[in-house]
Amino acid sequence: MSAPALFQPLTVGGLTLANRIVIAPMCQYSAEDGCMTDWHAQHLGMLAQSGAGLLTIEAAAVVPEGRITYGDVGLYDDASEAALARTLEAVRRWSPMPVAIQLAHAGRKASSDLPWHGGAQIAPDAPHGWQTVAPSALAFEDGQTPPVALTTEGMAAIRDAFVAATVRAARLGIDAVQLHGAHGYLLHSFLSPLSNRRTDAYGGSLENRMRFPLEIFDAVRAAFPADRPVTMRVSATDWVDGGWDVNQTIAFSQALEARGCAAIHVSSGGLDPRQAIPVRPSYQVPAARAVKAAVGIPVVAVGLITDYEQAEAIVATGDADMIALARTILYDPRWPWHAAAHLGARVHAADQYLRCQPRRFKTLFDE
Ligand SMILES: Cc1cc2nc3c(=O)[nH]c(=O)nc-3n(C[C@H](O)[C@H](O)[C@H](O)COP(=O)(O)O)c2cc1C
Repeated sequence: MSAPALFQPLTVGGLTLANRIVIAPMCQYSAEDGCMTDWHAQHLGMLAQSGAGLLTIEAAAVVPEGRITYGDVGLYDDASEAALARTLEAVRRWSPMPVAIQLAHAGRKASSDLPWHGGAQIAPDAPHGWQTVAPSALAFEDGQTPPVALTTEGMAAIRDAFVAATVRAARLGIDAVQLHGAHGYLLHSFLSPLSNRRTDAYGGSLENRMRFPLEIFDAVRAAFPADRPVTMRVSATDWVDGGWDVNQTIAFSQALEARGCAAIHVSSGGLDPRQAIPVRPSYQVPAARAVKAAVGIPVVAVGLITDYEQAEAIVATGDADMIALARTILYDPRWPWHAAAHLGARVHAADQYLRCQPRRFKTLFDE
């Protein structure tokens, strides 16, 4: 049997990953004023013992108004940086797993309630609410308070906030930055013609709609150490006629590659409530395959990847270079161990846990 593709190392930008399993960013809605809490140390500490190749920290807002909810993590002031530093120190003391962070601005989907409180928009004048901003003054859903259309000065301030957060991430020793260009948040809402109705240089043609996300990418890339990767997460399609689609995603991915982007992470949807998503196992993999065929940089596939053979096949057939797991790895935080055991590969385990290696998998753990 040939060595499993899922457990081959891969170099992304200057960063070498032990295997092709990426832990996707997952908001925990458990921060206080943008500051991580003990929950994050427990949650990220648990995931850092999973044997995955890369841990991605949840969407971290670059300004307070860029948080989806008042419980979101931020990286916008000294207090939020110090809280992240404490969490990172706890995680890194006991795990060699590289750590990436997703930098984000939620745009018109900000000022929402916690998901377990229903997730509805909170009005700007209500407790925990604020006025949202977006490319155009179009609400995400009927009945919501619409966002304020950003001026070019407002856009410049957001770009500067992305840079400031990147400088903080670099100072913390974070191994990679992922920009959140997916799920209907600010950067995606500039890309999609459904949410971007601007008539200036940032709206209209595909080139104009890509301009602000690419400016942010350039500014972040310039602010992060050259030997550490900056990547982009995209929604490959809005799943709505007349919206953002795979062909535009390919053009965006190629423009990013030309600017030094180290990888493209291919998700989908989140921009328009009319989206009709054919949710099934691997449902976003065809989009990842299309992007991979058009770029030379590594591509990550995500979405309902739950089985070991399914994950192995995605990487082995070349549909994508890596697979990312979200709900799958929350449900089973040792998924990479089980995948390695199933496929006959080796995986990292902490010294404290070496004694649990099952007898029938005598060479499972890297010593
Ligand atoms: C609890 C939770 C939080 C999430 N938070 C984020 C996030 O911060 N940033 C992001 O890009 N996607 C986020 N997502 C989406 C996941 O990263 C992933 O793309 C999606 O859940 C599909 O993968 P899965 O089928 O393995 O869950 C979140 C998903 C879940 C379940």
